[in-house]
Amino acid sequence: MAVMADQCPGINIKVVDIDQKRIDRWNNLDNSDLPVYEPGLEEVLTRVRGKNLTFTTDLEREIGSADMVFLSVNTPTKNYGYGAGQAADLSYIESAARQIAEYGKGQTIVVERSTLPVRTAEALQTILKQGNGDQYKILSNPEFMAEGTAIADLQNPDRVLVGGQCSESVEELASIYRNWVPNNRILRTNVWSAELSKLTANAFLAQRISSINSIAALCEKSGANITEVKQAIGADTRIGSSFLNPGPGFGGSCFKKDILNLAYLADHFGLMEVANYWRSVLELNEWTQHRMAQIVSQKFYGTLRGKKIAVLGFSFKANTNDTRESPAIELCSKLIQEGAHLCIHDPRVTESEIKRELRKNERHRSFGSYQYEQELNSAVEDAHAVVVMTDWDEYRRLDWATIANKMQRPGWVFDTRGITNLREAAANGLETWEVGCGDLQ
Ligand code: UDX
Repeated sequence: MAVMADQCPGINIKVVDIDQKRIDRWNNLDNSDLPVYEPGLEEVLTRVRGKNLTFTTDLEREIGSADMVFLSVNTPTKNYGYGAGQAADLSYIESAARQIAEYGKGQTIVVERSTLPVRTAEALQTILKQGNGDQYKILSNPEFMAEGTAIADLQNPDRVLVGGQCSESVEELASIYRNWVPNNRILRTNVWSAELSKLTANAFLAQRISSINSIAALCEKSGANITEVKQAIGADTRIGSSFLNPGPGFGGSCFKKDILNLAYLADHFGLMEVANYWRSVLELNEWTQHRMAQIVSQKFYGTLRGKKIAVLGFSFKANTNDTRESPAIELCSKLIQEGAHLCIHDPRVTESEIKRELRKNERHRSFGSYQYEQELNSAVEDAHAVVVMTDWDEYRRLDWATIANKMQRPGWVFDTRGITNLREAAANGLETWEVGCGDLQ
């Protein structure tokens, strides 16, 4: 919404939330406590906040006066009842829809922005009909931005998708995007195609990562090198070179949830083979996450008791403080379970966030322990191993001479992202392992 306000000075945008504290943080003028860390967001926000972008909790007033309402609420995986662990929990969408039905006045376009299973628009329409039915037109306008590059993705999207049955409403929303997106990049579809395209795009992206991670494991066994294989296959224009980096498994709030959702939908329509096909992408990812901890443990002859391990990076990828579904959670829980003492460093994730995530896995707690370290140099002090988990830029440029000096011997470096200079680490007396390559020969 900040980017939209920035690109469309003539449109008045009100961001409404029921959480007063969250709204206060958005309104805090010094930007020191924004609910989200996203490169470039502060600059955009500073230009538009208080001008054509306002944050408020006054639902009744803002819904009542809006021509268009964007629904951007959470759709986590349902953790209760029918479809638990697979289907999307639509309770937030439902309550937001009920609020629109209660407060909406006059003709209003309701835009689904949250990622929703196919045919949610139908459910939405049913709820809204309980108000003054025909006054609402429903559009699906899923978002394809990725965290960490959200501002650039929004300012210059590959495409914008607007799905709807009422072409007039579709064009109304398209005309907003036309303020900064070329018309040929604004795709108009029916509402169901728009809903399904979002799930499919994420499933295809996730599938690419599971594919490359499966080959990375094969490289380690066979003497092939994933960097070379990646280059060889990426040069085929039909495959393309982006999104082919092997790693500790994908994380983030979308991929797992959306594939579960897609598989659930396929099951619902009786397409078991389709559901199983997509679930296998998730199974491979779980195996990949688990594999990283196993490798660390194996290098220490299966016992990590009394070993100090520095974990570099806790967010699910670089340039975000988001830890949802981060592969670091699985790795840390497993290593603690094996008795290791972890020192966890991340340039953006806070200590309380790390604690919150690891607390969820408390059942794993046994002999090991963990602590947060703000300083990288303290995290590696006396460590038996360093595990690079997130592709933060600063981990690409580590000073291995200094780090090696502080570590125990034998000291190991595990690079689960293939980003750090392992030759330098090895030259300073450390043993090394890299995803898709294995031990340094
Ligand atoms: C994703 C989609 O990219 C975006 O279009 C959608 O709107 C939301 O979901 P996001 O979850 O922010 O975005 O992150 P993304 O950049 O896709 O990365 C997801 C995970 O895959 C991360 O854990 C990342 O480290 C991993 N990844 C990505 C790899 O392991 N290798 C790659 O080559 C790319």
